[in-house]
Amino acid sequence: MTDVNDMDLHQDTPHSARIYDYLLGGKDFYEADRLAAEQIEIAIPDARLGARSNREFMNRAVRYLAENGIRQFLDIGTGIPTEPNLHQIVQEIAPESRVVYADNDPIVLAHARALLSGTPEGKTQYIHADITAPRTILESQELRETLDLSKPVSLSIIALAHFITGERVYDIVRTLLEPLAPGSHLVMSHLTADFDPETIAKTMASYEASGIPLEARDKEQVTRFFDDLELVEPGIVQLHQWRNNGIETPKSYDTRVPGYAIVARKP
Ligand SMILES: C[S@@+](CC[C@H](N)C(=O)[O-])C[C@H]1O[C@@H](n2cnc3c(N)ncnc32)[C@H](O)[C@@H]1O
Repeated sequence: MTDVNDMDLHQDTPHSARIYDYLLGGKDFYEADRLAAEQIEIAIPDARLGARSNREFMNRAVRYLAENGIRQFLDIGTGIPTEPNLHQIVQEIAPESRVVYADNDPIVLAHARALLSGTPEGKTQYIHADITAPRTILESQELRETLDLSKPVSLSIIALAHFITGERVYDIVRTLLEPLAPGSHLVMSHLTADFDPETIAKTMASYEASGIPLEARDKEQVTRFFDDLELVEPGIVQLHQWRNNGIETPKSYDTRVPGYAIVARKP
């Protein structure tokens, strides 16, 4: 595994992982991240609700997949550990589950130990890698030693694809899905301006001002990720609406939660 001592944490520059940690109420951010997050909260006062709804979707989606027999997980854009982490959720259901995490932020690498403390029956691994180099992830020794690609894998790209601007993101996701066995799943959440365009335009401007490019995508653009896949019910919905165990959320969430949530199966 890459050694964090060789890395510069760029404490003076805001990073998306640390801004997200701040919004989730974590403690692993620096002054530059706090200042950027405060500006983001001015643009989108519901930023914390969005972050929490996203994390809860991750929790429900991987739980659903573990309950439905998936035992291998590749999670790209993992973020700073926040309990419960993905491996804790799925290994509670199936201790033999194998999980590979990947992120390109050295701060996540610095905390990777918390992501590697899985059950003795299962296995967890961490790759310091960038999703824009998908083949590096797929061909990494860490992945090859942990996952058997002839069996189904859950590929999760949660709250990450909107940080990859332009058309190349579709090729990246296609490349990652290509070697996965039938029965594999893609789990995604994605920022959208479909429900509150004005607020999200301000949010994107605020991230850009911090040096973090961000691209919200509309439903049609998000749907393109799933062209060759079968959507799991209830399809492409907002974060708080995905298999929410019948919990009633306030009607106002339909404009306040600016993310799509999707789970789909590779036939
Ligand atoms: C908003 S956080 C989401 C964390 C986690 N997936 C979740 O939903 O709770 C986005 C994460 O994506 C990571 N990220 C951003 N760009 C990336 C890239 N090009 N390659 C890999 N990870 C990236 C960030 O470092 C950060 O940890």
